[in-house]
Amino acid sequence: MTVAYWSQTGNTEAMAEAVGEGLKAAGIDAKVTHIGDISASDLSSEKAFALGCPSMGDEVIEEMEMEPFVAEVEKFAAGKNIALFGSYGWGDGQWMRDWVDRMQNAGAFVVNGEGLIINETPDDDGLEKCRALGKALAAKA
Ligand SMILES: Cc1cc2nc3c(=O)[nH]c(=O)nc-3n(C[C@H](O)[C@H](O)[C@H](O)COP(=O)(O)O)c2cc1C
Repeated sequence: MTVAYWSQTGNTEAMAEAVGEGLKAAGIDAKVTHIGDISASDLSSEKAFALGCPSMGDEVIEEMEMEPFVAEVEKFAAGKNIALFGSYGWGDGQWMRDWVDRMQNAGAFVVNGEGLIINETPDDDGLEKCRALGKALAAKA
């Protein structure tokens, strides 16, 4: 199962690693990868996967790499179980609510019904929430 993320300063990357730890703790073979190292179509054969991206621009997912990646995922998202997560700074999480709506409108089941957001660098509690998300995703395998 793949955990694919975009991250500029490492906060969402740290979340991705912890989601992967949660998957592995649940006995799932997890691959944690930057979206630049795979193509979106690699996910099309998986019935469950995780996507991570921080809030960028003005409350949007990152526009140069992540946006086109997610646009590709949207094409085959129907019926998939997708865990969404990401780090943010000064906002209130609007980017994630919009992202959840987008994936649900594409027919995906968003794990827990909402994305996991963490302010800036995840602390121990935040990392534990990421591991729990990984375990919740594992249950959809
Ligand atoms: C160009 C840019 C735009 C950003 N826009 C927002 C924003 O609209 N809302 C917000 O809450 N944080 C915003 N942030 C803060 C990042 O989401 C935050 O620093 C996050 O922890 C970065 O995650 P990363 O380490 O995975 O790259 C922005 C940061 C940058 C560099």
